[in-house]
Amino acid sequence: MPLVSMRQLLDEAAKGGYGVGAFNVNNMEQIQAIMEAARESNSPVIIQASRGARSYSQDKFLYHLMLAAAELYPEIPLVMHLDHGNSVETCKSAIDLGFTSVMMDGSLMPDGKTPSSFEYNVKATREVVELAHAKGVTVEGEIGVLGGIEDGHGAGGTGLEHVTDPEQAVEFVEKTRVDALAIAIGTSHGAYKFTKKPDGSVLKMDVLIKIHQRLPKTHLVMHGSSSVPKDLQDVINQYGGKLKPTWGVPVEEIQLGIRNGVRKINVDTDNRLAITGAIRKVLAESPDKFDPRDYMKPARDAMREVCKARMKQFGQAGNAGKIKPATCKEFAKMYT
Ligand code: 13P
Repeated sequence: MPLVSMRQLLDEAAKGGYGVGAFNVNNMEQIQAIMEAARESNSPVIIQASRGARSYSQDKFLYHLMLAAAELYPEIPLVMHLDHGNSVETCKSAIDLGFTSVMMDGSLMPDGKTPSSFEYNVKATREVVELAHAKGVTVEGEIGVLGGIEDGHGAGGTGLEHVTDPEQAVEFVEKTRVDALAIAIGTSHGAYKFTKKPDGSVLKMDVLIKIHQRLPKTHLVMHGSSSVPKDLQDVINQYGGKLKPTWGVPVEEIQLGIRNGVRKINVDTDNRLAITGAIRKVLAESPDKFDPRDYMKPARDAMREVCKARMKQFGQAGNAGKIKPATCKEFAKMYT
């Protein structure tokens, strides 16, 4: 099966009332972990790469790994998505390479750090929508600014500084015609999101619900949605790590989001934790080992289990076979 349009997967998710996990990757093992989890749970899936991932791996390597995944797992509808494109040029380079979906994060200036104006965001995002839709490629935009920093991208802070204004979200969608909308509701990238289990004072699910009421047909995206489970933190700390106590976004809050229009859920940190814990464990218990496969295989297995759990929790499990995927070429007609 060729790589498919993200818009189609999100439309299907809306029809079925479920969410689709979007997992970040930098290398072959992470792609394999996600694809195995998708096969074992019969899930459609979004694999995403940030600018940092593209430069770490040289994006041609990533692209060809994605083609291998599509070939080896033909039953899995698979999207290749650019996470947090910082400029029109970055999005264009991803589209030219073969990504089937791009995020234009115009909530920040091209430096990836400075919050932008609404007008700048609309202009840059609209430009990407025009060039992407001509090729059937999906576009995710962002309104409001997330907290934290991921791969050098982000404004920092707690995520409460620039929570999305629902009225502005409506205007943004009307003016840009994005396929999916990332919103800021107090989440942030990375492991350190909350200092205790989050309540409504720091995780603004009420704002998400208001946005969904005003934009019932728009696919919402939750970034910074790792749950940072204590058991994954514990494995790292048990084998020499030094993570401080921290809380992520509870799965039940994500499920509340899914009941209110969330169709794409971004998860990176949980997989990073699983991989690091597994590697630390092997190296601590067997200091004589030096074959990378001795620790990369358990790391890949640990990530697969996290992805599989999320696929079931988000409701995408069981749905791969129900989708007759469309290529971007076919989808370009839909946009015109
Ligand atoms: P986490 O750091 O919570 O996994 O978020 C990842 C993300 O939102 C990628 O864009």
